[in-house]
Amino acid sequence: MKKHIVVLTGAGVSAERGFATFRDTGGLWEQYNVNDVASIEGWYRNRKLVLDFYNQRRAQLKDARPNAAHVAIAELEKQYKVSVITQNVDNLHERAGSSYVLHLHGELTKMRPENGIYDRTASEAEVVDVGYSAVHLGDLAPNGSQLRPHIVFFGEAVPNIEKAINLVESADILLIVGSSLQVYPAAGLYRYAPNECPIYVIDPKPVPLADPRVTFIQDVATKGMETFIKKVSE
Ligand code: APR
Repeated sequence: MKKHIVVLTGAGVSAERGFATFRDTGGLWEQYNVNDVASIEGWYRNRKLVLDFYNQRRAQLKDARPNAAHVAIAELEKQYKVSVITQNVDNLHERAGSSYVLHLHGELTKMRPENGIYDRTASEAEVVDVGYSAVHLGDLAPNGSQLRPHIVFFGEAVPNIEKAINLVESADILLIVGSSLQVYPAAGLYRYAPNECPIYVIDPKPVPLADPRVTFIQDVATKGMETFIKKVSE
């Protein structure tokens, strides 16, 4: 029976492929006002601004490639049952070969109707995969309403959080890579890990986790993954 590793990732895991994180110096929230481009109020205030923001990030994703950390996480599947829970909206874990990826904050390559039932039933039926193409005002969903990013905006619920909690509760090892753990409910997921579950955190900066189960690997994701793999095979 393979041990179950749950890997919770944030923007830092994609940083070494040139993707800006959100809260580092020069990060996205220094370049844009988060309330304008990533909140539900911002969407209703200026749909075009929000559509353009995600069009730019989607276009950048087209030419991107997974980095060695994404690949190392995927390769854990050779020895472990691996569940990736990511706050990221990129598809780099999937493109690196991870076979189970749960997106907490949505997916860049997907859109859904702004007047749909998703928020009530979390029904994937309405979700449209647009790949890396741009979406504009007037691009409508089959139900006739404007297509909006399939992204969890600030001010919206996180439909996949219960699934994520169930995964963390069944972890033999919890690995957190590249998140400042400042955005809830994702930031509180580690608390659901079983008492005897070791928690490893990979980040070049100290992350505020006062938990005796935590082993902190202070490094970038690609190097930190090498250290992690050595530690768990000791
Ligand atoms: N390798 C690993 N970690 C890195 C690297 C790297 N090369 N570079 C930066 N980091 C770390 C930073 O030190 C920081 O702790 O990645 C973390 C990025 O933190 P944030 O920018 O806050 O990103 P994240 O934690 O993913 O944000 C959570 O906030 O805005 C919302 O929805 C958005 O999903 C996002 C959520």
